Amino acid sequence: MRIFLIGFMGSGKTHWGKQVAHRMQLPFFDLDEVIIAELGKTIPEIFAENGEEYFRMAEKDILEELVEKNSSLILSCGGGTPCFFNNIEFMKKYGIVVWLNTHVEVLLQRLLKEKMQRPLLKDIRDEDLKNYIVRKLNERRMYYEQADVVIDKEDAFTMNDFIQTVLHA
Ligand code: S3P
Repeated sequence: MRIFLIGFMGSGKTHWGKQVAHRMQLPFFDLDEVIIAELGKTIPEIFAENGEEYFRMAEKDILEELVEKNSSLILSCGGGTPCFFNNIEFMKKYGIVVWLNTHVEVLLQRLLKEKMQRPLLKDIRDEDLKNYIVRKLNERRMYYEQADVVIDKEDAFTMNDFIQTVLHA
């Protein structure tokens, strides 16, 4: 079984991914971490030195490579992964796509603390961050909504709920 976790930056993909993988005894990967390991650079370095287009190509290639090599996995994607190329169709074809539809206020509180690791956010002033999140989320919603499973109330979900919801997709 392959499970792809998608959602906005700060939606909890890595947090949930690690726990679900542990519970379901599936190999876990964080797509950003695999990109960092393969390219030998941090995400901010890749954006600054090679540009976003290069990052998106690497993201697509490494997504495909991980799927090819792993018939079972839980993959925490980057926030933009489903929104470029045919990545969303690709993931749906090869597994179950789960969207963590975390509330904007929760995203805001998390991202205010973690802005600097994210090249798309680092130059946005704290007071403008909420507007940015709302606008970007609206742009990306059409991709996120294609997920097979939507988790709307992340805070009300237990690990068992999560696993049962995914297994019944
Ligand atoms: C991005 C999200 C990041 C990372 C990159 C771009 C995005 O991943 O892939 O900074 O376009 O939303 P997280 O969602 O894990 O922060």
